[in-house]
Amino acid sequence: MIKSAQYIISNPDVTSCPQSSLPEYAFIGRSNVGKSSLINMLCHNPKLAKTSQKPGKTLLINHFLINNEWHLVDLPGYGYAQAGQKQREALKRMIERYCLLRDQLVCLFVLIDCRHEPQKIDLEFINWLGENGVPFAIVFTKGDKLGKVRLKENVEAYKTRLLEEWEELPPVFVTSSETGLGGEELTNYIEQINRDLEITRSRDHE
Ligand code: GTP
Ligand code: MG
Repeated sequence: MIKSAQYIISNPDVTSCPQSSLPEYAFIGRSNVGKSSLINMLCHNPKLAKTSQKPGKTLLINHFLINNEWHLVDLPGYGYAQAGQKQREALKRMIERYCLLRDQLVCLFVLIDCRHEPQKIDLEFINWLGENGVPFAIVFTKGDKLGKVRLKENVEAYKTRLLEEWEELPPVFVTSSETGLGGEELTNYIEQINRDLEITRSRDHE
């Protein structure tokens, strides 16, 4: 359960991110997919991470401290068409460097808008994560915008698409920041990993 959530700092590069040994979880995905909104939903604080109806709101690496035990990270979106090519490339580099160099990163959550068919940019990014050995899970967002049946169909279609290239599916979550759907599952998943890490750590110290 998330009992406390506190904004820590925003950085333009992974090298200036907090020096800490706390486990870290980050949200990534296309601009406007609902990364910042999902963080606010999980933390029960609509003002924690800045959100906007216009894409391109989050432009830095934002750290939030959860329960004084772990970090949740809000990343900029990728592939925002209206941003100039220069800005797009700078953000791409910021995201890639974070994914590859942030040792504390335990799991990257790739957010996908449940309403759309699988998009090339997301599939390419997911493949890039696989090639580089970055652990990830998939989170469908805006679940409130579809009926139950359609939502299930789209999620199943996405899984089928992923299985064309992957032997195994990553963990998959279905969420809505409007209704709170999937929030508990996502938090439980993170907290279970934290407990496992804690056990491994204390064993290593024996
Ligand atoms: P960038 O920071 O620009 O990359 O976007 P983001 O991925 O952080 O998206 P953000 O959370 O700012 O949300 C974008 C828009 O989608 C806002 O208008 C949100 O209110 C809306 N939105 C986000 N999540 C949901 C959801 O679960 N349901 C609905 N109905 N709207 C959502
Ligand atoms: Mg954002």
